[in-house]
Amino acid sequence: MTSHQKVKYVLGVETSCDDTAIGIIDSSKNIKANIVLNQNNYHKEFGGIVPEIAARAHLSFIDIALKKALKKAKIKLEEIDLFCSTGGPGLIGGLIVGNTFCKTLAWSFQKPFLAINHLEGHALTARLLYDDLNYPFLLLLVSGGHTQLIAVLNYGEYFRIGTTLDDSVGETFDKAAKMMGLDQPGGPLIEKLSKEGNENFFKFPKPLYKSKNPNFSFSGLKTAFSKTIKNVDININKHNLAASLQKTISDCLLDRTKLAIKIYKQITKSHKVNLVIAGGVAANKKIRADLKNLSNKEDIKFYVPTLELCTDNGAMIAWAGFERYKLKKDTMFNFKPRPRWPLDPNAFKNNPTMRLVGKKGIKA
Ligand code: KG4
Ligand code: ZN
Repeated sequence: MTSHQKVKYVLGVETSCDDTAIGIIDSSKNIKANIVLNQNNYHKEFGGIVPEIAARAHLSFIDIALKKALKKAKIKLEEIDLFCSTGGPGLIGGLIVGNTFCKTLAWSFQKPFLAINHLEGHALTARLLYDDLNYPFLLLLVSGGHTQLIAVLNYGEYFRIGTTLDDSVGETFDKAAKMMGLDQPGGPLIEKLSKEGNENFFKFPKPLYKSKNPNFSFSGLKTAFSKTIKNVDININKHNLAASLQKTISDCLLDRTKLAIKIYKQITKSHKVNLVIAGGVAANKKIRADLKNLSNKEDIKFYVPTLELCTDNGAMIAWAGFERYKLKKDTMFNFKPRPRWPLDPNAFKNNPTMRLVGKKGIKA
């Protein structure tokens, strides 16, 4: 294999959760195909994702996803120059399916293979769309598994400013939806119901709101929501419940982002801030609009991926792989999938941001 070969087409495989996704991009940032086959019907009756079922479904879907992607892109498999697959974090069964599949294709065509961190895929997606988005930038990553504010200083240099102390924001949407008897994933359904609701009807707590601790917490909100719905008729109140929950979550995200902007300025020693939102919850229009307003007020540039690039997809994995390959020209045939794979090296240390800004927090 020639490790310095020129790359024209990049394939990205994403199988870390319950979507079997394959994307193809070219070196001029064109998304040639971005196929997502969801498994919602397989998991519906269980009220959540069953890892073993997900792994088996990936196995039956992955070939179909590849065929559809090649057909859409109008290219042949042998024209792919770089094969990338999500290496973690995620459900181990699905990761093994995606990695083995992608590695085998790369090996048989004697092309490089890269295992990509799923969070890095989300983190860098906006750079696939916006040519003027350079490093560094501040990232609000909001997905089913993660809620983090990260200073993305350069490719591969991630500094975690804050993370959730308990539930992720996607989980909060999903669990609240489940309590209301809605299907999974619940986030889009809560958003839909919210449109006809009064967002100030119910008052829910906002954990850590206005605190100097740069982390998130959502479990108190979840508990308060479960207590409220026990005392009201869910069917009559579903729109107001959804809208009030969505507003509370958006308020919390905004408040934590405001604090992170201050910390980010200290880290980068600059007043210039580019803010990026990524992950499945970034598809929420209310959250996008609230962050846009905040960015206008704070005079910062705001970048948000298109809806289909917010949720899990293969193009984001292809793009992150392409960014890596341009810099490192490496290949990773020895990689073993990693169910846990934090983006920043400080993740296992205690509260790195608090150490950086001191016990009193940052100056408001
Ligand atoms: O990034 P993603 O597709 O998968 C993970 O890596 O977790 O995120 C999935 C999460 C789910 O919790 C889903 O409910 C949430 O994103 N989500 C939304 C919306 N679309 C997806 N949450 C709120 N509003 C939406 N429109
Ligand atoms: Zn994701």
